[in-house]
Amino acid sequence: METFKFIFFVSVSVALLLSTTLAFSKYRSKIPNGYRVYDPCSPRKMVYGVGHVDPNGSGKRNPFGDLFASEGYKWDNKTCRADSDGDGLTNGEELGDPYCIWKVGDTPTRKTNITSPGISNKCYSK
Ligand SMILES: *[C@@H]1O[C@H](CO)[C@@H](O)[C@H](O)[C@H]1NC(C)=O
Ligand SMILES: *[C@@H]1O[C@H](CO)[C@@H](O)[C@H](O)[C@H]1NC(C)=O
Ligand SMILES: *[C@@H]1O[C@H](CO)[C@@H](O)[C@H](O)[C@H]1NC(C)=O
Repeated sequence: METFKFIFFVSVSVALLLSTTLAFSKYRSKIPNGYRVYDPCSPRKMVYGVGHVDPNGSGKRNPFGDLFASEGYKWDNKTCRADSDGDGLTNGEELGDPYCIWKVGDTPTRKTNITSPGISNKCYSK
């Protein structure tokens, strides 16, 4: 009986972990340059969960994640033109889609210098 409970607990935990991991990784292809996003405050650190406070994803969402979710996880003009982290650059400018023309599967306008729209670039000037 205890063994059964333990196995059940482990299975549920693994399933939850997998679902949260997949939850944010599947969104990476839904924003421009989703696989090239770096933390502007430590430029060698890749951001996996762009919409989450924890750069590795899962857990609490940041303002960009909240907006993206409220738009139904769709990259649209509202998400693109907003400046979710308040650093003076729009989400589109940060993610290499300054003209807000990107659609899933497109090559983004810019592929370099991609910073997270969830982390203010202002840390540069500190
Ligand atoms: C994120 O993952 C990397 C690599 O697996 C690890 O080095 C880092 O400590 C993690 N960061 C957080 C905030 O958990
Ligand atoms: C933003 O609006 C323009 C004009 O309607 C449209 O061409 C463009 O595809 C839209 N961008 C996104 C990301 O949906
Ligand atoms: C990266 O982009 C930001 C904003 O678009 C700009 O201020 C910064 O100078 C750029 N950095 C490099 C290395 O191009």
